[in-house]
Amino acid sequence: MRLAIVEGDGIGKEVIPAAVEVLDALGLDVEKVPVELGYGKWERTGQAITEDDLKVLKGCDCILFGAITTPPDPNYKSVLLTIRKELDMYANIRPIRPLPSVKGILGRSNFNFVIVRENTEGLYSGIEEIGQDISWTKRIITRKGSERIAEYACKLAKSRKSQLVIVHKSNVMKSDKLFLDVCREVAGSKGVEYTDELVDSMAYKLIRSPERYDVIVTTNLFGDILSDMSAALVGSLGLLPSANIGSRHAFFEPVHGSAPDIAGKGIANPIAAILSLRMMLEWYGKMPEAALVEEAVDAALTEGITTPDLGGTYTTKEMTCAVVDYIRREK
Ligand code: NAI
Ligand code: MG
Repeated sequence: MRLAIVEGDGIGKEVIPAAVEVLDALGLDVEKVPVELGYGKWERTGQAITEDDLKVLKGCDCILFGAITTPPDPNYKSVLLTIRKELDMYANIRPIRPLPSVKGILGRSNFNFVIVRENTEGLYSGIEEIGQDISWTKRIITRKGSERIAEYACKLAKSRKSQLVIVHKSNVMKSDKLFLDVCREVAGSKGVEYTDELVDSMAYKLIRSPERYDVIVTTNLFGDILSDMSAALVGSLGLLPSANIGSRHAFFEPVHGSAPDIAGKGIANPIAAILSLRMMLEWYGKMPEAALVEEAVDAALTEGITTPDLGGTYTTKEMTCAVVDYIRREK
């Protein structure tokens, strides 16, 4: 496996080395290719990501990514959007499940669902015009884009409880009628049980009764918002991993950003990055290693080894050490 390692900015420089330490402890044959991207690079060179960087990324099987700080400059081109578009990573997957000994804001622990977000079109098309009196962004929904995300979601649903919820706003935006119709067609043809919900009502129901849901498929912006909201159910942004999957490449990153408020203090929670590594191992077919990483994280949390975002006093290094020690013992 050729793995691009992008630390990025802020706590990316702390949590990605933590995930790499865990990867090293597993003893897999991995070629690590460090790639510098982001705000720090932009400040230094005027470019956050170059054509050469894209070539290097495309030459790797997958990417482990930290976080990138977004500067206020309107000319700054988003590194994340560039990578998702250029490498055609159409599915953004965010599993939402409770972790042992961690209390979410609502104190619930009986939910386990996955948000499957279309990652290349919708309101993130980048086709927009900014004016003095009128500004607009084009919302693109295509049959092809809807079909492939629906197929991904159905495959995932079949490996779980086979219950799919299609989330849309087709009562107001007719473009969502295409998304809804295509998802229904695909789910019907794959034999997956499905219902649909309007996005506003879905937000309410996810907080009211998260245990009712299994796989949620939706368009780009709705998925972005619903998944960040769902992070509160789990307890800390520092716990949530994600995967961006394409036909040829994949990209794994914690849901959180570069957290400038705690960067450099050595107290960032490394679990989101370590669980992103777990998702990467699973994607690569390394199931026993993925399971071992999950076990090690669960064991550390159960022992009460937590960083300050979870009320603990351990540092990033100490948490990582606990996970790595477990892996070395059990391997
Ligand atoms: P953020 O996710 O960086 O931080 C939000 C809050 O959560 C902060 O109080 C932070 O300390 C805390 N937090 C986040 N991750 C944590 C961790 N692992 N351990 C402990 N506490 C953690 O979001 P914010 O502050 O809105 O954005 C900061 C910068 O990151 C911005 O420039 C933003 O554009 C960028 N960003 C980048 C993302 C990416 O690269 N994927 C995603 C989200 C934001
Ligand atoms: Mg977001």
